[in-house]
Amino acid sequence: MELSTLIQEMINEPSPIRQIMKMASRQNIINMGLNPDEVISYGGGWVGHHPPDELRKKYLEICSDMEKFYDAGKYSPTLGFEECRIAISKMEKELFGVKSEIENIIVGQSSTQLAHDLFIALANPNDKILLFDPTYANYPGQIKMALRNAKIIRQRVIDMDRWEYKPPNDMAEDFKEIYEREKPKIVLFPSPDNPSSQVFNEEFVKTIADICHEKKSFLIIDYAYKTQCFIKEPSYFSWSPLDYPFMIALHSNSKWGRGLGRRLGWVIADEEIINALERVQQCSILCPDTMHQLAFATYIEESLKDGSLRKYLEEIKKAYKKAGEITVEAIKEYLDMPCLIPQGGLYTLMKVNEDADEFVKRVLKNTGVLFIPGKGFGESLREAVRISYGPHVENVEIIKEGFRRVSEYLSHG
Ligand SMILES: Cc1ncc(COP(=O)(O)O)c(C=O)c1O
Repeated sequence: MELSTLIQEMINEPSPIRQIMKMASRQNIINMGLNPDEVISYGGGWVGHHPPDELRKKYLEICSDMEKFYDAGKYSPTLGFEECRIAISKMEKELFGVKSEIENIIVGQSSTQLAHDLFIALANPNDKILLFDPTYANYPGQIKMALRNAKIIRQRVIDMDRWEYKPPNDMAEDFKEIYEREKPKIVLFPSPDNPSSQVFNEEFVKTIADICHEKKSFLIIDYAYKTQCFIKEPSYFSWSPLDYPFMIALHSNSKWGRGLGRRLGWVIADEEIINALERVQQCSILCPDTMHQLAFATYIEESLKDGSLRKYLEEIKKAYKKAGEITVEAIKEYLDMPCLIPQGGLYTLMKVNEDADEFVKRVLKNTGVLFIPGKGFGESLREAVRISYGPHVENVEIIKEGFRRVSEYLSHG
């Protein structure tokens, strides 16, 4: 059987994160002589809190009425339903101060799909794309899948000795130098970030935006964790495509209301970009999911009016901040390895000072504790692991136990 050259190449470059998750599968854990029920995983890149009950009731309303359920089975317009796009525009305005018109919004299946469609809409296969090192592990594969030979340029953002993000001025200088040399067509990063949980400094992002604007490159900010920002929100959270036509805000329904498997994504951008995405989306998914849009739009309208959305998001944010603090304290208490202080999102990065692939395998086999080796996020994490507290947010007692076990093993091992 002769599969495409692209997929043959990609199958030979499997994601290191998927590989380690496979290694931690139930059967493999049993094969290692461990009890799968006792495994403590810091691997999951997902959230563990409950969705708003009022949102669940919106699904109930649709499902318990024959005609509403019938209606929820129709196709959506490619751009998404108007009521859903209006609800998104109101939500972004009220929560973050973003000014947008309905023409600036397209709804998609997820931010993963929209990122793929954005690459196709914005770049040619021989263009360059600038990512940070480290960054979200799925981007390189997505870029290759959409753009084949596009060249990925990396900007290192961690000070390896101090184990913290470089000062904003240094990052801005590095960016200017790399931009001048490489002239990337797209600059893409998440903020708050996966895997580092850092929120990029506003002066640094302003430098990037100004250069992109002047030189006509696209800047995509991935806001998968926008509602889980623990520090003062940077001003770019409120930027509008009306002011920055080269900036694209990529959003996901996965993390804020635990909609990972029930998800939608949306993009807020200049109208010309939205029109381009509409054309791509006609070919990629035809249209986004109807049921999720109907439930989401009515929930957002009502919960914005009665203030319950804001209250819900505040509580969720507090819970993740707390889980992050507990994680950092536990690392200090039991392992005393350098780690980053989360500023948002679900993660920290811990420096283990040895090849992290080997460290992760050894620790898993001997303790049943799972970390994610850093290499998949970029070369700078070759000797670091990503630790996720996201899945444990409603059960934070477990967070300490994993580090206690690892500490016991490392001190006797
Ligand atoms: C930075 C980042 N972007 C995008 C995604 C995926 O978003 P979606 O669920 O909308 O596909 C994730 C998921 O972990 C992520 O961490």
